[in-house]
Amino acid sequence: MALLLVVDDEIGVRESLRMLLKSEFEVETCPDAESGLELLSRRTPDVIILDLVMPGRGGMGFLREMKARGNKIPIVVLTASNTVDAAVSAMKEGAADFITKPFETDALRIKLRQLLERGELEREVARLRDEVAERQQLGRLVGRAPAMREMFRTIERVADSRSSVLITGESGTGKELVAQAIHELSPRSEAPFIAVNCGAIPHSLMESALFGHERGAFTGANEQKLGVFEAANGGTLLLDEIGELDPSVQVKLLRALQERKIERLGNPHSIEVDVRIVAATNRDLESEIEAGRFRQDLFYRVNVISIAIPPLRERREDIRLLAETFLARFAEDMKKKLSFERDALAAIERYAWPGNVRELENAVERGAALCEDEVIRLRDLPEPIVAAGKSERMREDLRTGGVSFDDTVARFECELIREALERQAWNQTRTAEDLGITRRVLKLKMDRYEIQPPERTAEN
Ligand SMILES: Nc1ncnc2c1ncn2[C@@H]1O[C@H](COP(=O)(O)OP(=O)(O)OP(=O)(O)O)[C@@H](O)[C@H]1O
Ligand SMILES: [Mg+2]
Repeated sequence: MALLLVVDDEIGVRESLRMLLKSEFEVETCPDAESGLELLSRRTPDVIILDLVMPGRGGMGFLREMKARGNKIPIVVLTASNTVDAAVSAMKEGAADFITKPFETDALRIKLRQLLERGELEREVARLRDEVAERQQLGRLVGRAPAMREMFRTIERVADSRSSVLITGESGTGKELVAQAIHELSPRSEAPFIAVNCGAIPHSLMESALFGHERGAFTGANEQKLGVFEAANGGTLLLDEIGELDPSVQVKLLRALQERKIERLGNPHSIEVDVRIVAATNRDLESEIEAGRFRQDLFYRVNVISIAIPPLRERREDIRLLAETFLARFAEDMKKKLSFERDALAAIERYAWPGNVRELENAVERGAALCEDEVIRLRDLPEPIVAAGKSERMREDLRTGGVSFDDTVARFECELIREALERQAWNQTRTAEDLGITRRVLKLKMDRYEIQPPERTAEN
């Protein structure tokens, strides 16, 4: 029941309101503004009926104090019929409504109801707004870009079902993390989550990895082995890099998904399995289908729900949030108080992150390990990020008069080209297109500035 507070100095009014409204409200009464305000420190009414003319600081004093406290409880002011002016000034002080004495019970009831409903609505709107504004995390996933928030909602919505999910995104965008989040939010979270990397297992062993085998099923099968389908029974199976699957295995996988049954190699007996499939790929499966490398029917099977994770460069508002999240995590691990120097953070925010979140995580980890006195500086970051930071530094140098305009322009041009090349993974044709110059001009400029592709370190 909603709580109503009546503040009125006349006992007759207090008691008649209590009698009239007690079937709909829990009613508290106070004889003056002071005791009314005191009650608010203990209880939070949903609505207040306030007499204006009372000894002490009166109804207006009560209203002003409520306003000063930022209190938003709706207040209906009671006035004698000849003091409508007072009611108007009370509304200016924040009263929600007024009613003149003697009042009609029904009119009062309706007013109170309306105020309560409006209050509930406002609280609901405020709650939803907070939720949307604050939601920057789902499980271990962090992100505030609209596309990420939308993805969080999708994950929550689909977690309950057992529909297959296809997650696409460039390398390092968090596909595995999304798959884990789906599992953890699902009713299957107590059962196993098993990930199998279809790209890392030789074709000849893939079938056995999925479905298992009996002893002696093939040369080298010295003992019985369960496949991931059986291991993940009741839980979730992530088929990572599904685009790498050999066509012969694709057929068998399709059958298993359709029939929800598998057969171990060397055993014709089929076994029922209850597994939720999540597949992930950084390939464009539709063009794989066109090229005849991926079965369309299998694609439809796994792509019941699709989640596409945008690359980090398309959600720049996440870069800083992620960098700071990782920094806090490493600081805790290392029991240090780590922070970024301004230049370092500026470079991180400018950089194109071709390796996406994984590259960012590694860069922060490296910075955390290399830095002196707990501050990560530009020089503690990997070279391509430093280069992105330099253009920022150049602007600064020019402003402070350290270098000539021509030098700055040349350095700037050099950095622009370098950045564009990074973005296009050093593909010169696409970079030239990006910059709106011919490939020949690009090449000349690369020679002039001695820009060379980095020696690719092993992808991690
Ligand atoms: N939104 C995110 N919030 C926090 N950490 C993230 C996020 N996205 C990715 N990561 C982290 O980045 C790293 C790479 O993520 P993950 O392995 O899920 O990427 P992937 O898309 O599966 O990459 P690949 O295609 O190379 O397998 C992991 O350490 C993961 O924890
Ligand atoms: Mg992965």
